[in-house]
Amino acid sequence: MFYDIARRYMFSRDAEWAHEFALNNLRRFAHTPLSMAWSQSVADKPVNFLGLEFKNPVGLAAGLDKNAECIDAFAQMGFGFLEVGTVTPRPQVGNDKPRIFRLPQAHAIINRMGFNNKGVDNLVNNVKAAKYDGILGINIGKNKDTPNEQGKDDYIHCMRKVFEHASYITVNISSPNTPGLRDLQYGDALDDLLQSLKNEQMDLIAKHSKSVPMLVKIAPDIDAVQVAQIAESLVKNRIDGVIATNTTLERTAVQGMQYGTEAGGLSGRPVREKSTFVVGELKRLTEGKLPIIGVGGIDSAEAAKEKLDAGASLLQVYTGFIYEGPTLVKRIVNGL
Ligand SMILES: Cc1cc2nc3c(=O)[nH]c(=O)nc-3n(C[C@H](O)[C@H](O)[C@H](O)COP(=O)(O)O)c2cc1C
Repeated sequence: MFYDIARRYMFSRDAEWAHEFALNNLRRFAHTPLSMAWSQSVADKPVNFLGLEFKNPVGLAAGLDKNAECIDAFAQMGFGFLEVGTVTPRPQVGNDKPRIFRLPQAHAIINRMGFNNKGVDNLVNNVKAAKYDGILGINIGKNKDTPNEQGKDDYIHCMRKVFEHASYITVNISSPNTPGLRDLQYGDALDDLLQSLKNEQMDLIAKHSKSVPMLVKIAPDIDAVQVAQIAESLVKNRIDGVIATNTTLERTAVQGMQYGTEAGGLSGRPVREKSTFVVGELKRLTEGKLPIIGVGGIDSAEAAKEKLDAGASLLQVYTGFIYEGPTLVKRIVNGL
């Protein structure tokens, strides 16, 4: 009910304005009685994944709380885990506005934000200030002006900074909005990156006497052969898990719609099938040995079950959450 009204208001405004408005209010009122508007208790459905105990399998996907400013408010919505970021070593403004577009007919969003964020030091301070003590993933990326050949250094810089504060770390090599980033998903570039990051992770584990799993987030725009190559590299480099998937560049499902030809990544219902395909292939190729978080077009318990049936152990939502509101978390958990 509350979200119906809030959504009507926010959907009548520019998408990025609405995003900022929502985050500002979540941050300001998280520790006041107004948080009743979004707080809910969600049944426990524990999942053990990578040695961590998740209170339910529904998580918040990366990109909504890029700077980790609203951790406590999202926790109050009953998510089983939260992922913040993508964060880069240095702050950056991202692409020119407008850069987020709603496509309500398709229950979809197109975004070309371009990793706008306030930098990793700011994120770490926000994480430290939060009261939340549940599972927190921190998603890391590279600055736009860092050439791909030095991209590794950006990921390592972020890993070192967030390591102590993260339950798990996600290496994002699949945003379509940082030129050339997706090239890191293939061949020698991928092997080289993953090998270096694995070495760094092992050093950090020894240094901090704390094990923090490392996951890699991949794109849906890959065919079966490419999924196989990525899976092989992930296993070879002993990566702990994979998040499938990010947004798609494909536009077939939104042809003719307002904003349907905007550049950027398409998310929501149109990416559901592609993400599920990637999850299924990863499961099949690795014989279930590579832990998978499924994300893409989950907006109901039925869509959530599809990802679990395909091989995911955990789920994340972004676009479905924008359209459905916090009750989506509860509906999925209750419907599983
Ligand atoms: C506006 C917007 C910004 C996003 N930013 C990020 C990001 O910074 N890092 C990331 O890994 N994924 C980002 N994503 C991708 C989502 O985390 C998710 O993988 C994708 O949208 C598919 O899930 P969905 O259909 O539930 O939205 C973003 C998605 C949207 C819609």
